[in-house]
Amino acid sequence: MRALFAVFSGTGNTRRVSDGLADELRALGHDAEIYPIRNEAPMPALDAFDVLILAYPVHAFNAPAAALAFMKKLPAAEGMPAYLLRTSGEPSKLNDASGITPKRILAKKGYDVLGELSYVMPYNIIFRHSDGMAARMWRDAELRFPEDAAAIAAGVGEKRRVNALRRMVAFMCRIEHTAMPVLGKTFRASKKKCVGCGACAGLCPRGNIKMVDGRPKFGTHCVGCMACSFGCPEDAIRISVLNLWRVNGKYSFEGEPATDEENCRYCRKMYLKYFHAIEDRAEHSARVPDEEEEKK
Ligand SMILES: Cc1cc2nc3c(=O)[nH]c(=O)nc-3n(C[C@H](O)[C@H](O)[C@H](O)COP(=O)(O)O)c2cc1C
Repeated sequence: MRALFAVFSGTGNTRRVSDGLADELRALGHDAEIYPIRNEAPMPALDAFDVLILAYPVHAFNAPAAALAFMKKLPAAEGMPAYLLRTSGEPSKLNDASGITPKRILAKKGYDVLGELSYVMPYNIIFRHSDGMAARMWRDAELRFPEDAAAIAAGVGEKRRVNALRRMVAFMCRIEHTAMPVLGKTFRASKKKCVGCGACAGLCPRGNIKMVDGRPKFGTHCVGCMACSFGCPEDAIRISVLNLWRVNGKYSFEGEPATDEENCRYCRKMYLKYFHAIEDRAEHSARVPDEEEEKK
């Protein structure tokens, strides 16, 4: 099987998860390719693949406008199996609403959406998770990869149902799609801090930042992915009215995962439920072969 991962990622979380899942598929003997959804990239040749995996971060309980625009440009492909893969800062069921529009667009084009895969990764806006939380999220993502890769390989999956209230909340939050191009135009680089390195321009997946006289100038195609402010090595980007929510600097995923006691207080129960769901399954499947061994 040949899988194409079409990935929109602002600050690297969705790309990281897509890379991990693609590696897992390769370990099972399949081909997997990553296509980053960036403005300048030409459309991939879909007929070279057997399954399409559309990966995006959740933005205000929706798929980002850039991911939807990519889906709208996809060619019709009657019966082609597809999956949605999303990352989000918290394991809220509201985030499932972000699959509604992608499923509708893909179904119209004939794709057969077989499942939705969700991974919790650290927030890139609003607040910064501890590195311990990031490490636990990543460890648990790695525990999830074998199940998800096996499901993709077998052509099975689960689609999320979203109740009317959550649909309505997500619908109202879609204002983000019209607000961000306007707001993004007012992002600025701090005169004191900006060294004119151009990292923001290089990171922006929308090609929305041009360097003019050694300083970034923001255009009207922002989708609020935070690649610029998160990735600025000098923490120089000011994100307008969202500035108090700015998060800057890469997470370290490789340290010691947070224990239950160290779990972040915000939505504590939801995170613990998410972590334990896969940790308990992984522990159980590690124990069962040992017990069978003992019986022999
Ligand atoms: C504008 C914006 C809105 C977001 N909205 C949500 C949200 O509604 N729910 C959530 O759980 N996470 C939300 N997040 C967090 C991201 O989904 C999360 O950090 C994701 O892993 C980032 O992926 P990326 O690094 O591939 O861009 C939001 C992030 C941004 C930048």
